[in-house]
Amino acid sequence: MDDPAFALEGEGSEGIDINTQTILLHASNHDVAALKPLLRIPGNASVQDPETGFTPLHAAIAAYKDGDRVEEEEEVNIEKAKSTIEELFFSGAIWNDLDKNDETPGCLAWRLGQKELYQMCVNAGVRAEMLLGLMGGYEVLAGEDSEEEEIDVEVEAEADNAGGENGANGHTNTEEHELAVGPAEEVLEAEKRVVNSEDYLNSNLTFTDTALLDEDSNGVMMAWETDIMRRSVDLLLPGLPPGKRILNIGFGMGIIDRMFADTKPATHHIIEAHPAVLAKLQQPDSEFGEKWTQSAEEGRYKIHAGKWQDVCPLLLQAGEVYDVIYFDTFGEDYSQLKYFFTEIVPGLLDADGKFGFFNGLGADRRVCYDVYGKVVELDLCEAGMDVEWVDVEVPVEEMGKEGEGEWKGVRRRYWTLEVYRLPVATFMG
Ligand SMILES: C[S@@+](CC[C@H](N)C(=O)[O-])C[C@H]1O[C@@H](n2cnc3c(N)ncnc32)[C@H](O)[C@@H]1O
Repeated sequence: MDDPAFALEGEGSEGIDINTQTILLHASNHDVAALKPLLRIPGNASVQDPETGFTPLHAAIAAYKDGDRVEEEEEVNIEKAKSTIEELFFSGAIWNDLDKNDETPGCLAWRLGQKELYQMCVNAGVRAEMLLGLMGGYEVLAGEDSEEEEIDVEVEAEADNAGGENGANGHTNTEEHELAVGPAEEVLEAEKRVVNSEDYLNSNLTFTDTALLDEDSNGVMMAWETDIMRRSVDLLLPGLPPGKRILNIGFGMGIIDRMFADTKPATHHIIEAHPAVLAKLQQPDSEFGEKWTQSAEEGRYKIHAGKWQDVCPLLLQAGEVYDVIYFDTFGEDYSQLKYFFTEIVPGLLDADGKFGFFNGLGADRRVCYDVYGKVVELDLCEAGMDVEWVDVEVPVEEMGKEGEGEWKGVRRRYWTLEVYRLPVATFMG
């Protein structure tokens, strides 16, 4: 253990217990033989150093350093690190536990340039998230019997660790961050509040030139995303042909709808649920008001007021079919997006159509973004769809830090990555 990130000597009696100390030491030494018997005890794979917050995964990753060794030695060393991490994951180590530096084991591996170890964390995250998905969601169900509650609490604990609500779709996420604006008490209140669909749809909105904000100043939609919307339209409608049938879920600032409208579609349907957005759409200066509705055959250009969960079944009943469907809501978790492409898209999308969605899951933490990208790909595959990813650069540096530049007045900097992975999904075969 050449560079321990946790002090061991003399700490047995002050805070860090001997069990934790021993496990972290063995993990750090990549001593699988010594670790194995200890890991049979439930919970031991995810003990944490009270000072650094290091779990055995953090310790195993931090202790692996390449560099001066000869190649052969290097190979042995990385293999030892890998088997330690593998053993830890098999024994229930949690992929997204945070240390005191606000890093998951994956974040640490990435920062140290350990790509292979990083990938192991991503794979473990994908396995865990797929399992959570199979177990039916992420919410703690109050009032359920104790056994179920226990499972849900564990799930919630894991889901809450990093990357927001582990499944929040689009422009939302619950990770707690310092707020940049507002008096301290209000800030604390807002900080604690978790975005959810019902509260969002009942909340007041603020429209500015560059953003649409909810009551807690969460960015529902922001102008910096215009490039992403542009690329989405260009890839969903290659060559921007007129006469296509388009369905967009979530009007927001109308950025993508303006681009869709410019292509002169045969059908342009927009589903929007928030009363304030709907009210804005009805104002005399709205581009999507009466004039727009009447500029095509009846029912072809239409705002469907309501939640997509209520409107889509009606569209299915009416036999509507679209060439392009885009999905970008707010305040909903991943289960909703999954439900949408599993249950709704197959009925509404033309056999040769294209499906796109705002890929913002876990976008404030690379490892989470990579995990959710893979989860969504696997779920799309199960729903009979292939997905192609196109990388779009995001000028995060220019956009500023938390509370600065683009993020001024916005509760949370929900995007921190340099690359947006733009999905275009089509039916298989
Ligand atoms: C991120 S914005 C969409 C931004 C849009 N892509 C644009 O280019 O401006 C999300 C929108 O989805 C709406 N929304 C949220 N939940 C919804 C639901 N269940 N059904 C329909 N619309 C919903 C919100 O009110 C908001 O207007």
